[in-house]
Amino acid sequence: MAIIMSGKVMSAALMEEQKEQVADMKLRGIHPGLAVVLVGEDPASQIYVRNKGQACEDAGIYSRTIRLDAAVSQETLMSTIDELNADSRVHGILVQLPLPKHLDEGTILARVKPEKDVDGFHVVNAGRLFTAQHGVVPCTPKGILYMLKKAEVPLSGKHAVIVGRSNIVGKPAAMLLLNENCTVTICHSRTQDLPSIARQADVLVAAVGRPKFITADMVKPGAAVVDVGINRVDGRLVGDVDFDNAEKVAGWITPVPGGVGKMTISMLLQNTLEAACRQAL
Ligand code: GUN
Repeated sequence: MAIIMSGKVMSAALMEEQKEQVADMKLRGIHPGLAVVLVGEDPASQIYVRNKGQACEDAGIYSRTIRLDAAVSQETLMSTIDELNADSRVHGILVQLPLPKHLDEGTILARVKPEKDVDGFHVVNAGRLFTAQHGVVPCTPKGILYMLKKAEVPLSGKHAVIVGRSNIVGKPAAMLLLNENCTVTICHSRTQDLPSIARQADVLVAAVGRPKFITADMVKPGAAVVDVGINRVDGRLVGDVDFDNAEKVAGWITPVPGGVGKMTISMLLQNTLEAACRQAL
């Protein structure tokens, strides 16, 4: 049976540390603040945004959610970001994705000042990660690495296989693991014989968005399996990994819910606190 890497337990411990850190910052006159911009009514995004706001409140971080109509123009959204860039109470700005199709995501993400880009989606921060320089690291990959390190999973020289090539998870996770001296393979929907590649993984990261896509026969015995999937099936949340069977083969595994998702929010708070400290210098 695998060791469970619990995001619930790890994020609860981090929350206690973050509360103390915020209290300490306030004594020094720094009141960290996060602004979340939500465009439209996507039900999953609404839940994520609510959870982010609640976590900020729990930690004592000032939080603002700006809700814009799904039909908002590119210009209005850009000027909303400009206002937040100029607002000294706001140290972190997050534009919840996905955006409605008529909006140009790349241009919008590039409008956020890189020092306020707590998602790490600005090309400047993506470039820093790509060149192993200090910058803001996207929350989900940062959470994945945090869990692997906390569980003391060996990384250096190991084969990490990432299933999924998104800008939010797959690509930055690959860079982070490469920076940890893993040998990294990125698989995606066009990969030939994905199961045989997955079976070579010492660290297997599943970020495909398909329920139970990773079956137990695709897991190398003793591997660390990280499940980034959040899929709703018959009203229940399930990951991209067939947990019940994979757990019998893996050395470590993350559950869904209570796994990576919790860490994403913890890392968002961490990025916000780091941004606030840097901006106070
Ligand atoms: N949509 C899904 N995941 C994320 C995330 O980490 N950040 C933002 N801004 N949008 C998302």
